[in-house]
Amino acid sequence: MIATICRKAHFNAAHRLHNPNWSNEKNIETFGKCNNVHGHNFDLEVRIRGEVDPDTGFVMDLAVLGNLIKDEVEERFDHKNLNMDCPEFEGLYPTTEYFVKIIYDILKPHLKKDHLLHITLHETQKNAAEYGDW
Ligand code: NI
Repeated sequence: MIATICRKAHFNAAHRLHNPNWSNEKNIETFGKCNNVHGHNFDLEVRIRGEVDPDTGFVMDLAVLGNLIKDEVEERFDHKNLNMDCPEFEGLYPTTEYFVKIIYDILKPHLKKDHLLHITLHETQKNAAEYGDW
C-alpha cells in the first residue's frame, strides 16, 4: 500500500525582491512593498509518498522526518536574511518559488531512493508555492 505522510514546520526569515538590472522605479512597480527588506513567518509542509512498511505501519518515522527538517531547513534558514546570509540563494531571487526548489534539493538526498518528496511553502496565509516529485 502506498500512502503520503506530511510533516509541518515553521520558521521566520527576511528577504528583499530586487532586480539590480532595473531602475528603482521599475523595481517598486514590479515588487511593490517586497522591494524593501521584510520578514515572513514561513509555514513549511514536507510530504513523503511511499510504501507503508508492514513491520511499522509507517511510510517513514515522522519523528525522524521532523528532526531532518529541523537540522537541515529550520537551523539553516530561521531568522536569516535570505539575500545576505544564505549562499543557497546566490544568483537567485529569494522568492517562494525558488525557496521550495532549494528545500527540495536539501532534503531529497537524505531520503530513501523509493520515497517521493513534495514541498509546500506558505509565505503568507494567502501565498504559497509547491515543488516536488508529483
Ligand atoms: Ni516577501
